[in-house]
Amino acid sequence: MSFAGRRVLIIGPGLVDMAARALKGAIIETIEAEALSGRWTFGEAPELVLIDAAGSTPEALAGAIANLGRAPTPPPTLLTGAQLPVALVRALMRMPRSDVLEAPFTEADLAGAATPLMAAHIAPVQGAPSRCWSVMGAVGGSGATTIAIEIACALAARLPGPRRVCLIDLNLADGAAAAYLGAPANMLLVRASQAPDRIDASLLDAFVSSAPGGVDLLAAARDSHAFDTTTPEAVLRILEVACQVYDAVVIDMPRHRRAWSLDVLSGSDELLVISELTVPALLAARSLAAEIETELPAGPPPRIVLNRLAKRVFGPAPSMVEAERALQRRAVGGVTSDWEAAAASANLGGPISELRPKSRIVKDIGDLVDRLLSSPAQRGEVEAKVA
Ligand SMILES: Nc1ncnc2c1ncn2[C@@H]1O[C@H](COP(=O)(O)OP(=O)(O)OP(=O)(O)O)[C@@H](O)[C@H]1O
Ligand SMILES: [Mg+2]
Repeated sequence: MSFAGRRVLIIGPGLVDMAARALKGAIIETIEAEALSGRWTFGEAPELVLIDAAGSTPEALAGAIANLGRAPTPPPTLLTGAQLPVALVRALMRMPRSDVLEAPFTEADLAGAATPLMAAHIAPVQGAPSRCWSVMGAVGGSGATTIAIEIACALAARLPGPRRVCLIDLNLADGAAAAYLGAPANMLLVRASQAPDRIDASLLDAFVSSAPGGVDLLAAARDSHAFDTTTPEAVLRILEVACQVYDAVVIDMPRHRRAWSLDVLSGSDELLVISELTVPALLAARSLAAEIETELPAGPPPRIVLNRLAKRVFGPAPSMVEAERALQRRAVGGVTSDWEAAAASANLGGPISELRPKSRIVKDIGDLVDRLLSSPAQRGEVEAKVA
């Protein structure tokens, strides 16, 4: 686990040097136990509180622990020391996430004790709850994966904080997101399906790989049986934990219905259906959107994104106006066709926003994301119909 950028508060000065080496990259602050036992309130909540029992009196420590326990979300707390007073340990154990590390210990012991406490720590999202956006192609090859990746990168560029966006590829058998991003596919959902209740933030950490563009990726290696061997419980639990840990989650949804598809869609805040400007794709998008509206009347309204818009088209193709008429609804956005940029991403491994930042695709997706952020979908609302 990486400690880089994680906020650690140390009570008592004795542990600072060792903690700096054990929790490399962590932002460390120190405070005296006495200062914590008064009316001390958290500014930015620490992701771990490390207490050096040797540095303070048992009374001051008891006061500090009691004060930590009164925080709205008590921070994970690790108490270290030799022959710790029983009363202190008992007070500590009343906190939701805490542990004791008996002295003497090594840097590896300290990192080992801190990891599960911090991995399970769900960073509070500033102001807003986590956003979950699902992206689904109306027909194969419409660009759903490409658009999901670029949306994830655009969101990562717009959100503050260390754990911004997780892109989840739910095309479990042969998803392409990892290949397009040039990142490893580390998610072992088949194994996690055997004990879905054990899926927690630390298991999620083991499954994610960091991808270019400031995005974390959850994707499974190619496995043609994966849809049969993965349980709905495991899929839904992974999503639940990801939504707790990340500020935003973007899902590359499979087109074909799975046992968990409707649950995933109904739990999403935005549902984007990707179509292209061909008659079969538009008709498929229209019927997919209508089907979702019927099955999830209180869910997020499906919104259509038209992909591969071209100035010059070869042969007959519908115009935007004709497309919206065929869809019987307005599209929420359009993405320009740029084969060179899309091919660069797929073949070199990396988002278009990094490899071809000037591409119209990047601008169009940025505009789309800004639009969605400023006017989020209202559940149960039916998108404006076009006669
Ligand atoms: N706006 C675009 N301009 C040009 N090419 C694009 C655009 N969007 C996607 N592509 C290209 O279209 C092809 C299909 O894209 P992608 O794999 O994203 O589609 P998909 O809907 O996820 O496909 P699948 O049904 O296989 O999951 C890829 O070669 C991709 O590079
Ligand atoms: Mg795809």
